[in-house]
Amino acid sequence: VGAVRFVNEPVANFSRDDVRVAMAGAIDQVRKQLGQRLEVSKLNTHLPTGADVRSFNPAQPEQLVGIVQSYLPADVAGLVKVAESHAEEWKHRAVAERVAVMRKAASLMREQRWELAAWEVFEEAKPWREADADVAEAIDFLEYYAGEMEQLDPPPRLGRYPGELNELFWSPRGVTVVIAPWNFPLAIPAGMVAAALVSGNPVLFKPSERASIIGYRLAGILRQAGVPAGVLQYVPGGPDVGRELVIHASVATIAFTGSKDVGLGMVQAAAVQQAGQKFVKRVIAEMGGKNAIIVDDTADLDEAVTGVVQSCTGYAGQKCSACSRVILMDSIHDAFIQRLADAVMSLRIGAAEDPATQVGPVIDGRAQKRIREYLEIGRREGRVVVDRSMEGPGYAVGPVVIAGIEPTHRLAQEEIFGPVLAVMRASSFEQALRLANGTTYALTGGLYSRSPRHIELARQAFDVGNLYINRSTTGALVGRQPFGGHRLSGIGAKAGGEEYLKQFMVARVVSEQT
Ligand code: SER
Repeated sequence: VGAVRFVNEPVANFSRDDVRVAMAGAIDQVRKQLGQRLEVSKLNTHLPTGADVRSFNPAQPEQLVGIVQSYLPADVAGLVKVAESHAEEWKHRAVAERVAVMRKAASLMREQRWELAAWEVFEEAKPWREADADVAEAIDFLEYYAGEMEQLDPPPRLGRYPGELNELFWSPRGVTVVIAPWNFPLAIPAGMVAAALVSGNPVLFKPSERASIIGYRLAGILRQAGVPAGVLQYVPGGPDVGRELVIHASVATIAFTGSKDVGLGMVQAAAVQQAGQKFVKRVIAEMGGKNAIIVDDTADLDEAVTGVVQSCTGYAGQKCSACSRVILMDSIHDAFIQRLADAVMSLRIGAAEDPATQVGPVIDGRAQKRIREYLEIGRREGRVVVDRSMEGPGYAVGPVVIAGIEPTHRLAQEEIFGPVLAVMRASSFEQALRLANGTTYALTGGLYSRSPRHIELARQAFDVGNLYINRSTTGALVGRQPFGGHRLSGIGAKAGGEEYLKQFMVARVVSEQT
């Protein structure tokens, strides 16, 4: 019922003058606030003892966005103690109150909408539209999980059996660690944190070091909305702090979004029983993809080119949902590649601050180096169709398309997390499906086709968590396209879907003979 009532926050229409003026004004305002030190003491009582995290603009690597002091692994025990001491109080808050706090946070985000998006432009080099969509999605997560929690209260009665009252109670699992990525720096942490909080858990939120400033703002909004200090703690820090949080005996749930290797490491670490540990830890891990779009011989090629280019180059390919392989059927192979090359050549590459920019730089020098290494591998494995990899400011890696990629090539198997598209060729639709399914990942997939038979075959056998037919493969909407993969793409229920919230709770059934 909650999902039916839920309506997505509309994204901004930047073709309107007033909307452009509002966003440009926010960018100017935020520019004046760059480089400041953010005080963790405004959010937490247990203070950090680590070094400063300095966050820079990927489009202008010398521009300091903000500074925040980080935590060390030795600080973790103290943070967890604070969380534990607030667990009972938050657990026993009326559900209606916790729901109201999430809705209040959503309305604060609406008020700060342009400003939040502007911070993403500077800290993450997100182009305007993508930054705005991230803020809208964060609002959606807050509202959606609030609505879902309302549906579980009061506890549902099971069946109607005379002489017997059966009820299902949901209660929080306990101290929850959220380890968030930088690529959707507001929406993804907002989703994980909101789900944990609204279901009654205290939360230790570790943002990515490359999204510490937006993370601070998210924590600030939730605190302002009414989440008590200690129930939500903001924990900036590096991977060593993440590891310490995961292995702490009192942490019951770990919600993670990031790379496969880090996620699998958490699953392994969480399985080791620590002294004093009283439960099996649950790890919810949203990981990578090697997502393919199939274009068959009946597809509308104009639409397919647009969809593939958007899916591959949106936010410079730094989305787990991004398309990194396009599988073309023989008869359209050459024509499609030609049009694809033209479309990639016409993309506007630049700094995120410029509203006309379609592809900005990647997040940091390490990512740039890794992507360039893959380009070298790609040059050896296939044939470069278009290469704009040296253009743009900051950590630029413009889009590159490489044809002639075979299933055994590294470009066909490994997640690159950049705007690099591998082109593969299939002589039948069945072969195209086999190629699409031929990786260890299963996150998103796409099909451009006008053939009812092919569409039906893909529905049945294209093995991904989110399949998109005749549209791009990114931009899943909360409540409408619950998002998440299987195989090595992740474990746990889909974000923005009905099952998600229950992962943060335990179910208790009480049966009374009456
Ligand atoms: N939910 C995002 C998308 O669909 C990826 O995390 O693009």
